[in-house]
Amino acid sequence: MTWTAAQILEEMLAFSDGDLHDIDHLIRVWTYAKTIGELEGLDPDTQYVLEAAAIVHDIACPLCREKYGNTDGRRQEEEGAPMAREFLRGAGMSDAQLERVVYLVGRHHTFTGVDGADYQILLEADFLANACENGYPRERVEAFLDRVVRTAAGERLIRSVLRV
Ligand SMILES: [Fe+2]
Repeated sequence: MTWTAAQILEEMLAFSDGDLHDIDHLIRVWTYAKTIGELEGLDPDTQYVLEAAAIVHDIACPLCREKYGNTDGRRQEEEGAPMAREFLRGAGMSDAQLERVVYLVGRHHTFTGVDGADYQILLEADFLANACENGYPRERVEAFLDRVVRTAAGERLIRSVLRV
């Protein structure tokens, strides 16, 4: 049996070990990613990969804080990809699904070479969550809308939540 998104979340909550900041963030990113994906009409396989990637995308954050003293994006991508592969080893996904999730975790701070709706929506959902948590200035939100956002649903949610 392949893990459902809820089962992946349950495992990731346990992995987060009571860090409420990390837990709040991953729940927020998952919810926005799930919502944008459904509003955009993704096929079930792409939607599943997107949700799995959203839940585990910051899996390397605790390790990066410990090892490097920060959560620098590039390091997180490098450390996170193999951690995601290991974490999801027992999830029963197809090889293609697993490798795509790993790929997305390894690129979630990279705004170039976006090669699919799952990747695009993960960037949008993570930005929206981070903007909520950190109170990004309006210019930063406008620039992201201008340069990165590609989905209509992502733009609607960002404008609605952040009131830009
Ligand atoms: Fe994130």
